[in-house]
Amino acid sequence: MLPENRDLFSVLRPHWFVVARSSEIGTKPHAVRLLGEPVVLFRHRAGLSAFPDRCPHRHYPLSKGCVINDQLRCGYHGWSFDGAGACRKIPGLIGEPQQLARNLTALPVFEADGLVWCSLEENPAAKPEAAPATPKSGFTRVLWTTDVAADLIDALENLLDGTHTHFVHAGLVRSEGKRRRVEARVRREADRVEVRYRGEAGQNGWISRWFEGKRSESFGRFLMPATAQLVYRNEQRTQLAVTAFFSPQDRTHHRVFILLETEANPLVGWLKTQLVGPFFKRVLQQDRAVLKTLAANRRQWSTPPAMISTEIDLMRPHLELLLAGQRCKPLEKELLLDL
Ligand code: FES
Ligand SMILES: [Fe+2]
Repeated sequence: MLPENRDLFSVLRPHWFVVARSSEIGTKPHAVRLLGEPVVLFRHRAGLSAFPDRCPHRHYPLSKGCVINDQLRCGYHGWSFDGAGACRKIPGLIGEPQQLARNLTALPVFEADGLVWCSLEENPAAKPEAAPATPKSGFTRVLWTTDVAADLIDALENLLDGTHTHFVHAGLVRSEGKRRRVEARVRREADRVEVRYRGEAGQNGWISRWFEGKRSESFGRFLMPATAQLVYRNEQRTQLAVTAFFSPQDRTHHRVFILLETEANPLVGWLKTQLVGPFFKRVLQQDRAVLKTLAANRRQWSTPPAMISTEIDLMRPHLELLLAGQRCKPLEKELLLDL
């Protein structure tokens, strides 16, 4: 018998999430929400710190304060905290301000590749492996952010699912009437699922025609807890990779950090990303609209019946199992579909 599914947030909580771009955190405190909890980030000489966004004194949001002399100062009575969270100053108080109960508890945080990762747990899961799909040199990278209102699993599935593209992104990504028989190999491990597609040669939409050479294979990947990645390769190397780091603000709102990696020299790469930008943004808009409509429709029933899938819904069952905290055995299977 399968173990009971765990609540999504209890599964997500020990993990790391991207919460900001490095460039967003300057000289002011920066507020984010992660899994329903307000978090404040601030930069100081020794690095970057994250804390629950709540002053120990009267719970005023610390993000409404300021950073002065490497300390985070509350905007209500001026208590000030250093990068480790120690209370260094209580204006008006004669004597030593530092006492354990007055300190903030720092949240684990680190920066890599221009992104800030944070966890709400004092002892988080292992740090995520380097998430970019390509080696550091020889690729042009751009980073976008967007917001999505949807259940996390719906949003992750949407990014990794090819079967809606003929309808939602007709012409841009694929077109109905120009389907090709494709071989899909699904591989699941304890913390990820990958689908490799072969035989498509290239999608028949504009994005692929303009921005990708002859494709030999492509991959759709989900990496725990909330990363979705699409990688397009020719015989030699990766042509284009799109990695979306979902940052769940609450159960139905997510900030998404999208890293686009494309090959070529810096100038060509820059031009490519400038040209592909509007197309990608249009695709994102279309997906956001579908997800919003889907969520609104589902809300109209208090207990909607189970959703029906077929074997070409390649990602969904694995997303559901992994995000229910189930210990998944490795699995590999292949099938054909018309994409
Ligand atoms: S609430 Fe922060 S100093 Fe009083
Ligand atoms: Fe889509």
